[in-house]
Amino acid sequence: MPIYIDFLSGKVAYRAKRANRRNELLARAINISPKENPLIVDATAGLGRDSFILATLGYEVILLERSPELYTLLADALNRAKTNPDTAPIIERMTLIHTDAKEWLVAKKYPRQPDVIYLDPMFPERKKSASVKKEMLILQELLGTDSDSAMLFEVAIDCAKRRVVVKRPRLAENITARAPDYTLKGNSSRFDIYLAKT
Ligand SMILES: C[S@@+](CC[C@H](N)C(=O)[O-])C[C@H]1O[C@@H](n2cnc3c(N)ncnc32)[C@H](O)[C@@H]1O
Repeated sequence: MPIYIDFLSGKVAYRAKRANRRNELLARAINISPKENPLIVDATAGLGRDSFILATLGYEVILLERSPELYTLLADALNRAKTNPDTAPIIERMTLIHTDAKEWLVAKKYPRQPDVIYLDPMFPERKKSASVKKEMLILQELLGTDSDSAMLFEVAIDCAKRRVVVKRPRLAENITARAPDYTLKGNSSRFDIYLAKT
């Protein structure tokens, strides 16, 4: 079965067409207007869906992905979407980098300090229920789980100017021992918000 990422049709395109800052829980978790021109670093880009939605809403996003396979799929999808007049202006706000986010953040390779760092590491699914989406199962088989996510969080909270947003399955334990400042709950997942140290 061929695998590719597509921002032009299917579920992500459908979601992007309807997205606004009220119905996208991630945008509410970020809670900064794109008009303020915040820099968002998506440190776990994966299939790029969340980043594409954020860029659709007008945010500038840097996508970091360490898996060579995922990076290649993402680069291909971005190149295709760049040539479509509807998606080209969105893709202009997205910059993809092949790197381990921990190293990139520690080395301060960013063009300016990220306002928000977004983390959605692979999480071990307990059961192969119908609610576990097919694409997540394929990703899990390819990548396993991101067992260094607590370390990534520690680096992220030191770098973020305003907040770190962490996506978790609704009932999962926190990414780290520190409790979030607050949480927004969706149907199957939640966003834990950690305010930056001042
Ligand atoms: C669950 S997926 C993210 C899904 C993504 N939010 C989306 O909307 O498609 C997690 C991804 O993060 C990547 N990842 C995990 N830790 C990373 C790190 N330290 N640096 C870069 N990429 C990382 C994994 O390779 C995987 O592709």
